[in-house]
Amino acid sequence: MIPEHVIDEVRDRADIVEIIGEVVSLKKAGREFKANCPFHDEKTPSFYVVPQKGFYKCFGCGKAGSVFDFVMERQGMDFVEAVKYVAGRAGVEVEEVRGRKPEEDPNRPYYEITNFAQSWFREQLLDDAVGREAREYLEGRGIDAAIAERFELGYAPDEWRAFRDAAVKHGFDEALMLELGLLKQSERSKEPYDGFRGRVMFPIKSVSGKVLAFGGRILETASGDGPKYINSPESPIYEKGRNLYGLSRGKNPIRREGEALVVEGYMDAVSLAAAGFENVVAPLGTALTPEQARLLKRYTDRALLLYDSDPAGLKATFKAGDVMLEAEVHPSVVTFPDGEDPDTYVRAHGSESTRALLKDSIDVMERKLQILEEKNYFSSIDRTRLAIDRLLPTLRAVRDHTLRDIYVGQVSEKTGVQPATLMEDMKKAPRPGVPKPRSRDVPSGPPQPRSLRGGAERHLLKVMVRGVEWVERAAEVISSEDFDDPYHRAIFEALLDDPETRTPPPSMDPVASQRFHEILVDPAELAHGSEIFSKAVTRIRVAALHRRAQDLQTRIEKSGSDEEKLELMTKKSRLAAEIRELDENYWVAATRRRPNDRNPNETTR
Ligand code: CTP
Ligand code: MN
Repeated sequence: MIPEHVIDEVRDRADIVEIIGEVVSLKKAGREFKANCPFHDEKTPSFYVVPQKGFYKCFGCGKAGSVFDFVMERQGMDFVEAVKYVAGRAGVEVEEVRGRKPEEDPNRPYYEITNFAQSWFREQLLDDAVGREAREYLEGRGIDAAIAERFELGYAPDEWRAFRDAAVKHGFDEALMLELGLLKQSERSKEPYDGFRGRVMFPIKSVSGKVLAFGGRILETASGDGPKYINSPESPIYEKGRNLYGLSRGKNPIRREGEALVVEGYMDAVSLAAAGFENVVAPLGTALTPEQARLLKRYTDRALLLYDSDPAGLKATFKAGDVMLEAEVHPSVVTFPDGEDPDTYVRAHGSESTRALLKDSIDVMERKLQILEEKNYFSSIDRTRLAIDRLLPTLRAVRDHTLRDIYVGQVSEKTGVQPATLMEDMKKAPRPGVPKPRSRDVPSGPPQPRSLRGGAERHLLKVMVRGVEWVERAAEVISSEDFDDPYHRAIFEALLDDPETRTPPPSMDPVASQRFHEILVDPAELAHGSEIFSKAVTRIRVAALHRRAQDLQTRIEKSGSDEEKLELMTKKSRLAAEIRELDENYWVAATRRRPNDRNPNETTR
């Protein structure tokens, strides 16, 4: 929470004209400023900024508010983020009360660079001479100045070191710019050179509106003949499989519409949004990942897949469909005429036809059945068998039980196979390497209820899937022997084998795979990583020690020799001391934390 008087100070000190002027071309009109509204499409300006009163208002679409509202609306930040952002510009120190010490974001230097890069690329596009060719290219693709501005497009000039020279002059660190892919260096070139040249630049933002990376599309007229698109490499601030292009501006429309349009390309996203379909996102040059599906699930549980209709596009569609079903997002498929993508379609046929096409979307399973039918898959027994094999992955992917029953019913009707048989088929994927339950997995009356222990194990796994660093940390303090639940143990081992794995290995037992999926689609809350981690580790270790104590007790009771008994009892009391110590630390830590246990990202306005 930021104290009220600090918020007031930020509001007073902020220069609303400067902050809005960074993203909108404001023209002075008397004591006010005006521009074409950044929130809706218009040809004559009805967006006004009134610096004396510290607010803006659009007489076209009615959007109005303070400098904070503008930043929230425009950058997709929440209130606290917006206050901090404006404070940064106004030179006001903001300290949140409560929560732990406001941590200095170690990635800030990267964001400073990406911010600078975005505004520099924007200036190049607006520059009369430098940006002419790019503007003409965009116009040719139906993107006028207003749309370019709304989507914060930019231009990287077709020169070797234009960006670098500007950035170095502003004091930015070359090493960091190399990491971000904004600069490149080869053995031949002693000096780093621009990573993006002669390209239209699409900023890729986090949900909260921070610039993470860029996609750059080559102009058809550029001198170089590089790939059509270049994307920033992964960096400390950018993991492509965990972000969706367009989500920061699309998230509210997605909530409003109750569904997301998922397209393949940057241009598809921009053209659709420009035509009024603002609830659009694109995975970033990769197949849709479980993380991306989960991210989408925060805003909606319905997705329309708008992929190319060629065989490659269909394959990607169904792969994405399965990933969505696993994240409990219900996918439908939109089919475009051959050779068209959403961008070309909406520009050639307009919004009305596009809307109609979207309305004709078909549930992913129905579409699969349709295609198999078209290819005569249900005409013979052999081919029906093959068709079922193609359908099983989708049946297995569905998390929602009702939807699964519906799908099973549909497949059953189409193939003549009994639903119960299909259900069996779903469960019995041929999978070697089922973890063998060990003797001690038989409940032996340990002191904590089963669900609690399972909870700690699951919590730890949920933290581990958040990143390789967590897997490494866990590997240092826990061994697979410490896990009580054999399925959790299998997942733990799979993560140690391949810390980056985001799909259960094929050899994994179906129950373990299922749990692994659940963990992947629902990882731990980001804010509490360390806390969850250490609590879970302690609880797992305490439980493991209890089990060992129990084993010792059994052996003591069975033992015939006093000498052995004594030895076992000594061991047992050592274990007991270890448990007490861990337990105490746990409870001390847990109670000490309680008063502060709220999510530091939680905001109160
Ligand atoms: N892509 C990429 N690298 C490439 C080609 C494509 O990252 N060399 C990604 C981009 O995100 C692109 C998407 O895949 O937007 C779809 O590619 P494609 O269908 O080839 O391009 P379009 O989006 O149709 O591009 P355009 O309309 O600009 O030709
Ligand atoms: Mn295209």
